[in-house]
Amino acid sequence: MSVFIGRVGLAVFTATDRRADPAAVSRPDVPGETLLLHTGHVDAKPYDALAGEYYDAAHKTSRNFDATTIDAVATLQHDLPTGKVLEVGAGRGRANEFLNIDSNRIVQLDNSAAMLRLQPREASLVRVLNDAESLPFPDGEFSVVLAFLCDPFLGLNFLSEARRVLTSGGVLLGTTPSEVWGRALRGKLDVDQMETRFMLRTGSIAKVPSALYSVSQLKLMLEAAGFDPTSIKISSYSLPEGVQPVSADVTSPAEQLGLSPYRLPILDLFEARAV
Ligand SMILES: C[S@@+](CC[C@H](N)C(=O)[O-])C[C@H]1O[C@@H](n2cnc3c(N)ncnc32)[C@H](O)[C@@H]1O
Repeated sequence: MSVFIGRVGLAVFTATDRRADPAAVSRPDVPGETLLLHTGHVDAKPYDALAGEYYDAAHKTSRNFDATTIDAVATLQHDLPTGKVLEVGAGRGRANEFLNIDSNRIVQLDNSAAMLRLQPREASLVRVLNDAESLPFPDGEFSVVLAFLCDPFLGLNFLSEARRVLTSGGVLLGTTPSEVWGRALRGKLDVDQMETRFMLRTGSIAKVPSALYSVSQLKLMLEAAGFDPTSIKISSYSLPEGVQPVSADVTSPAEQLGLSPYRLPILDLFEARAV
């Protein structure tokens, strides 16, 4: 199997495989793990500071999003196409956990080296350190593009790139925080409407980009990016009933809107098919 990185076709190899061109790829940082490929110089990225604790239970809002994602993907009406899967903004990888996708189909991409080095992580063919808004793959390379919690890079650039690297009939599936939730919360916090904040273990605050779009804006962007308008589905989900603990960043906007925290839409799931 080959994956194209930076316009060059590379055979996918494991850490013990010595066919790799040392000039083209970095050595694996964890023996036995997939290689982490660099496609050029990448500066420190916002999630680098968060990486070591992003998956901790203490980050209750993120864990509430995880529980909601499991509920949301369970509603998918059809199987995803077979073939190669690109997981964008992969973090430690969720394609297997959420969709049971085999690791030998998955390419993980993220612009944070710290997120791509996290252990434990889902296995993959290869990990690629690169920006979501300029994907280093040729047109039509993947049958599925996944992007769970893609709010840091969601916009026309990413959506157009996702469309470009999908084969005809390929599917983009993503999640992003609901605008209803985000606007209510961010109105009360000292953050811009297009960023969010994490309280770190040290007590300091990390602010990271986080775009919010209404369902109709997201639909328009998917259409503008060239996805089949008749295939676009966007649904909003609330935290499943009874999930505990509930983040104060969910209860507070729910109260403000006069809703139970289990009735406030916090996550949008979107799918679209490439023509
Ligand atoms: C909210 S986290 C979600 C991680 C993972 N998808 C999950 O659900 O566990 C967002 C991820 O997107 C990555 N990211 C942010 N901006 C990016 C960009 N411009 N290009 C690629 N990845 C990006 C972050 O480093 C981080 O790993």
